[in-house]
Amino acid sequence: MDRRKKIYLGTNTKMYKTTGETVAFLKRLNQLTKEISRDKMQLFVIPSYMTLAAARESVPRQNISLGAQNMAWEEQGQFTGEISPLMLKEAGMDLVMIGHSERRHVFRETNEEENKKVLCACKSGFSPLLCVGETAVEKGYGIAAEVIRTQLKVGLHGMMPCEARKIMVAYEPVWAIGVNGVPASKEYANQIHQVIRETLTELFGDEIGGDVPVLYGGSVNPQNAEELICMPEIDGLFIGRSAWDADNFNAIIRKVLPLFEAKRRGEDSV
Ligand code: PGA
Repeated sequence: MDRRKKIYLGTNTKMYKTTGETVAFLKRLNQLTKEISRDKMQLFVIPSYMTLAAARESVPRQNISLGAQNMAWEEQGQFTGEISPLMLKEAGMDLVMIGHSERRHVFRETNEEENKKVLCACKSGFSPLLCVGETAVEKGYGIAAEVIRTQLKVGLHGMMPCEARKIMVAYEPVWAIGVNGVPASKEYANQIHQVIRETLTELFGDEIGGDVPVLYGGSVNPQNAEELICMPEIDGLFIGRSAWDADNFNAIIRKVLPLFEAKRRGEDSV
C-alpha cells in the first residue's frame, strides 16, 4: 500500500476562476502549505483550460500538481473545440480529470468515451483521475454499486495493470455535488469506497488494485471533512466550493492531515 500512505487532497475550480484569480489562489495556497512534506500529502488543483499555462508558472510542480478538467481521446485531428494531450503536456500538466459528473450529465459523456480518454491519458503519461458516482434515481433503485462497478469496468477497460499504477479514482455521488448537493454520510461513502476497492482489485489484482488512491468528493466542507477522512476506505478528499478560497482549503488540510496520519498509524499497528 505505497501510494495510499499519503493523503490526496485536491480541488476542481470548474468554470469559476479567471487566470488572474487562479494564479492568486495558487500562490496563496502554496505559501500556506509549502512546509508540509509532500511525502505525506499530494496536493492538486484542476483549474480551467485557459488558465493552465499561467497556473503552471505560478507555483512549483513538486508542491502543487496541476490537472486539466477534461481531454480529447486523440492527440490531433478533426476535433473542433477539443484539447489534445500534447497541448496539456506542453502546459506542464500532471493529471487529467475524466468523467466528472458535470461532463457525464451536462455534456452527456458516456462510459465508452471516458474509457477512450482514460487510455489516451495513460498513453500520454498523465495520471488520470476517473470520477464515478450514481444519480439520486439510481441510488433510489438500490443500484448504486452496480452503476459504480459499470463505470469502473467500462471506464478502465483495456488498461494494463502497470498503467493502473498511475490512476486515481474519485467517488462523487451526483446527488452530493454542488450548491444543491447533500453530502454523503461517512458510512455510505465508506461502503461505496469498498465497492470501488473490490472492483479495482478484481480488475488489477490485490497489489496494484489495492494501491489505487480513492478520494471522496461531493459537498465536502469544514464540518464533515474530518469524519470522512477517518473512514478506513477513504484515501483523500476532492473538494469543490469549500476549497476555492486558499485559506479555507488550508484550514481543511490542517484538520484532516493529522487524522489521516493517525488512521494509517493505527492500521500499521494492527
Ligand atoms: P462541491 O463540488 O464540493 O462543491 O460539491 C465537488 C465536485 O464537483 O467535485
